[in-house]
Amino acid sequence: MIIRTQDDLTGAVLSEIERAPNPRFREIMSAAVKHLHAFVRETKLTEGEFQSACGYIATLGQLSNESHNEVVLIAGSLGISSLVCLMNNGDHGQTETTANLLGPFWRAGSPRTTNGDSIVRSPTLGNPIFVTAWIRDREGRPVPDAEVDVWHTSGEGIYENQDATQADMNLRGKFTTDREGRISFRSVKPAGYPIPVNGPVGDLLRAQGRHNMRPAHIHFLICKRGFKTQYSQVYSSDDPNLETDVQFGVTRALIGKYVRHDHDPAPAPDVKGAWYSLEHDFVIEPGEARLPRPPITGKATGEPPVPVVLERVELR
Ligand SMILES: [Fe+2]
Repeated sequence: MIIRTQDDLTGAVLSEIERAPNPRFREIMSAAVKHLHAFVRETKLTEGEFQSACGYIATLGQLSNESHNEVVLIAGSLGISSLVCLMNNGDHGQTETTANLLGPFWRAGSPRTTNGDSIVRSPTLGNPIFVTAWIRDREGRPVPDAEVDVWHTSGEGIYENQDATQADMNLRGKFTTDREGRISFRSVKPAGYPIPVNGPVGDLLRAQGRHNMRPAHIHFLICKRGFKTQYSQVYSSDDPNLETDVQFGVTRALIGKYVRHDHDPAPAPDVKGAWYSLEHDFVIEPGEARLPRPPITGKATGEPPVPVVLERVELR
């Protein structure tokens, strides 16, 4: 089509999309073009702003590699990852769900661990924590024999894959639910951590005066035949950044009660000083038990990352 004015453009692009045989492709791309063209019109995007946007998006790809994905990071920082999760879980967004983001650090092949055992595999800073989790179906019945992977950061906010000084698979384990649909383990209380801000995501956050912290959490991945595999994160109720999670991941259903015990006897005799307990319930839905592709495959070498923390500030 020969274009006369800007009024001709959207229709011209949409009619070319109609040539595609795949109906879902047509649906997604037509909507994308309509929204993108409407966005350009609404904001009266200038040529300079358009060139900046193209450079910005190109940098997202250029910064992505086997161990870092800047595209996923910005999708989270704009709430898109959470929106996709919440629309596709909880009876397609109708009800609260215990599903959450997978995150970038799940590894396949976590060591099988017996319920009640520890996942601390090398000396690790942090208060001891004793975790019990129940897996139930939508009718409240326990789900036995579900495989549950858990992983989290150390008390310094660093995952083992980022830190050559931690043992391989430290703070990771694979458990099987018992007849009550329950798993339990000992670990150290995780700390929150900053996401990387050396690229476009950092520019985005600085422009808004946002911090780059994720509140402390423990990841769970629950897999059982006949149920949709559920990824989840249980956030620490005492974390100062629950309201301002940089990835918009915190939902009401996933604020875990991390209870501090200063004087109660601990479940293990070697515990000295304060310790924590956490009990949490997960509800899984009917669907396909399919494991995701692991975002990472191994451990970093060299020094652990030096965290860069942005403060939350008022810019106006
Ligand atoms: Fe995480």
